[in-house]
Amino acid sequence: MKQLAVFASGTGTNFVAIAQACQNGTLQARVALLVCDKPGAAVIDRAREMGVESFVFSPKDYSGKAAYEAEIVKLLDAKKVDLVCLAGYMRIVGETMLNAYEGKIINIHPSLLPAFKGANAVEQAVAYGVKVYGISIHWVSADLDGGKIIAQRAFPYEGSDPEEVHRIGQKIEHELYVETIKQLI
Ligand code: GAR
Repeated sequence: MKQLAVFASGTGTNFVAIAQACQNGTLQARVALLVCDKPGAAVIDRAREMGVESFVFSPKDYSGKAAYEAEIVKLLDAKKVDLVCLAGYMRIVGETMLNAYEGKIINIHPSLLPAFKGANAVEQAVAYGVKVYGISIHWVSADLDGGKIIAQRAFPYEGSDPEEVHRIGQKIEHELYVETIKQLI
């Protein structure tokens, strides 16, 4: 049974999709830990409801990224985590995490990378007027949203409502993330 960690900062719909897939046997894996950098984020409640342990921290309580990442690495090591899945974790992964876990960290991003890296990818794409949107899952490296792509799925959308793109995209995200994790493990 593979041990997963999910890192998230917000609502946690991808966290729920992954945790459900573990609990219903779609994935031969277990979410051993949720890591969340936003006390009060909805994903923390989702984890509690699903019986998943969480580590919630405030970056401002630490001297810097190296300090909180060292604590996270200790937890991942203790739980023998095989794969770290970033799911709306809105923080750049630093050297400490990469030194310990590079090659075992993946991220989901709401654009067809390498287009529209960084925050607000959907809003950037809508502003650009693109007609084909998509979701990417990639390895995490020191290059923000620039690691090798593992999976992508595109969808056409001719409108200009970012909320609608998010809605369509998130359904695809939940399926694609579970399928990709299944392949990797
Ligand atoms: C997801 O749509 C994910 O693609 C995006 O955050 C959302 C989190 O949703 N990630 C990024 O923009 C990373 N740059 P969720 O909390 O409902 O899973």
